[in-house]
Amino acid sequence: MALTMTRPADDLYRGPTLEEILGLAPVIPVIVIEKLEDAVPLAEALVEGGLPVLEVTLRSDAAIEAIEAIAQSVPGAVVGAGTVVEPSQVFRVRDAGARFIVSPGAYPALTEAVLASGIPFLPGAATPSEVMDLLARGFRYQKLFPAEVVGGMGMLKALAAPIAAVKFCPTGGVTPESAPDYLALPNVVCVGGSWIAPPKLVAAKDWAAITGLARQAASLRR
Ligand code: 3PG
Repeated sequence: MALTMTRPADDLYRGPTLEEILGLAPVIPVIVIEKLEDAVPLAEALVEGGLPVLEVTLRSDAAIEAIEAIAQSVPGAVVGAGTVVEPSQVFRVRDAGARFIVSPGAYPALTEAVLASGIPFLPGAATPSEVMDLLARGFRYQKLFPAEVVGGMGMLKALAAPIAAVKFCPTGGVTPESAPDYLALPNVVCVGGSWIAPPKLVAAKDWAAITGLARQAASLRR
């Protein structure tokens, strides 16, 4: 691919593996940053509450700069990029300092771009065939998305025996109430969710309240 050929062979990502990253906390906050000025204090609030792994979604104009700001200014954070849907976004977020990439789904051109970048990738899957396809490409950790819509805990229980090699980070519709049950499943490594950084609290810059939500989420057992 032209995208990968523009990069020298030694320009690969070097950092923690996906397994190491997903092992850092039971919950990954899914974040939408509308104002760049909120990026660092929000990340600091989440890290202070015990959630160092942060998924900044590429759904706002400020997202890439927010990733850069967090990567440079919040040493305790492991910032990743979410909602990565195009190969062209892969090197942009890696160069901004993202340590991992999350997608809502996967297709060959995206998977190939991420593999070429060397950056850890948590790809989205919603069906047994998608899970198997990604496993065949080497992805043992996958995001079940949108988790509640595609079967939630029942789906994960059904997948556990026939596709035992895959561990999931269910995301989409997970709540503080359902998170403990998800985390109790043997094929769940962590969960993702937006409830830890609600837009209202971010808009109000209520970082203390967000630290409180993060602290509760960080105390969940796996
Ligand atoms: C998303 O895409 O926004 C994530 O899946 C988070 O979903 P949630 O808002 O249901 O937690």
